[in-house]
Amino acid sequence: MIKFTINNQKVKGQEGWTILEVARWHGIDIPTLCYHGAVESYGACRLCVVEVDDGQRHRVVAACLHPIQKGLKVETDSDRVRNIRRWVLQMLVDEHPGSGKIKELAKAYGLKPSRFKSDRYEDYCILCGLCVRACDEVVGVRGLSFGNRGVRKEVTTSYHEPAPECIGCGTCLYVCPTEAMERLFDRVRAER
Ligand code: FES
Repeated sequence: MIKFTINNQKVKGQEGWTILEVARWHGIDIPTLCYHGAVESYGACRLCVVEVDDGQRHRVVAACLHPIQKGLKVETDSDRVRNIRRWVLQMLVDEHPGSGKIKELAKAYGLKPSRFKSDRYEDYCILCGLCVRACDEVVGVRGLSFGNRGVRKEVTTSYHEPAPECIGCGTCLYVCPTEAMERLFDRVRAER
């Protein structure tokens, strides 16, 4: 077992675990959007940031990706961490003001959508790729993928057509953190 501290609380976890996994094991809250224990972490949303001090370096890392190490000091709710999360959430809530889940998280950090109207009000997708990873890694189907690049990047199917591979299991709906998949599902699922 590897021993270290989170918020000055002594914790321990197994070799290969991430900070997020140990925090959750000990009931310590770290907010996430793009994480799900069933699939490989991707580090897309940056909401899970924490401060770490390994005795040599002090820095901010993504808890869902950072492996634990002996003697590490982790802060999950410092001013610096909260400021970064507020920054991330303000961008998300401005870009996707229609998503209830994002609004709820933003509210918990004292934020609300700015008065500038987003042209993506109806687009809840934050491109975290959880649906793509779950379809591939959990269901083994690969019905979804990323298409386009830059500001046009999107979750889609081959040729934007209903995916013949899709078995309609709804795993993508279940893991989607922002209700985006609810709007996409009927376009993804092929009629059988
Ligand atoms: S949960 Fe860690 S980056 Fe999204």
